[in-house]
Amino acid sequence: MRVLTQASGALLLVNAAHAIQTSAAPDLVCVDPRWPEILLERRAAGLLNACIRAVGGEHTIVPVSGWRSREEQQAIWDDTLVKEGEVFTRQYVALPGCSEHQTGLAIDLGLASEEIDFIRPNFPYSGVCGSFRKLAADYGFILRYPAGKETVTGIAHEPWHFRYVGVPHARFMAEQGLVLEEYMEMLRRDYSQRSLTVCAACRTFHIWYCDESVRDDLLSEPGSYWQVSADNCGGFVVTTWR
Ligand code: DAL
Ligand code: ZN
Repeated sequence: MRVLTQASGALLLVNAAHAIQTSAAPDLVCVDPRWPEILLERRAAGLLNACIRAVGGEHTIVPVSGWRSREEQQAIWDDTLVKEGEVFTRQYVALPGCSEHQTGLAIDLGLASEEIDFIRPNFPYSGVCGSFRKLAADYGFILRYPAGKETVTGIAHEPWHFRYVGVPHARFMAEQGLVLEEYMEMLRRDYSQRSLTVCAACRTFHIWYCDESVRDDLLSEPGSYWQVSADNCGGFVVTTWR
């Protein structure tokens, strides 16, 4: 028996109320050799590229900002505050320590053009960007800050900011219109005694919440796979599939 108490995973909830607890560095890789400075968590990077290829966006969809250190988030905050003022900054820049860019699971995307705004890149709802949006959940990505959920996320609508959460979670959130705050709250409230069943990618996933460490001998049934993600709020989400 092994007890799983990891502090990482695709379901970390990071926002103004939940600063990043872990100092563990994510496993980062370069998203695209044309932009060597843009890094993303390894699995998220692979699936992002697969989604971009699936919509033929290799030359039109540009990664603008991926992983950020706390220091970089602080510099972006300070710079935006000077240039744009406090109201704008609070709408579009997460507090240093509270940006999910610091997890390596978030990516800002832009439509290729001569000038791309770093804070608010143009990523339309039509054309190849629209095609990317339609497929994103199949590759595990959600639009993290949609219109209409500003009071829940604490951030303005950001059409360019995508977050890797994993395929079954992204599919469920997209289908139900839930943001990460709402999804994690639902798992905590309704799925600690029983599991949520999600069918995606020709598989059946069972998802549940644990408020303490997870014993891996409870997870391993022959022929089944599992993943555990910390939620950055003291709990864990277990995902199993076969
Ligand atoms: N633009 C998002 C909210 C960030 O700074 O993390
Ligand atoms: Zn972003």
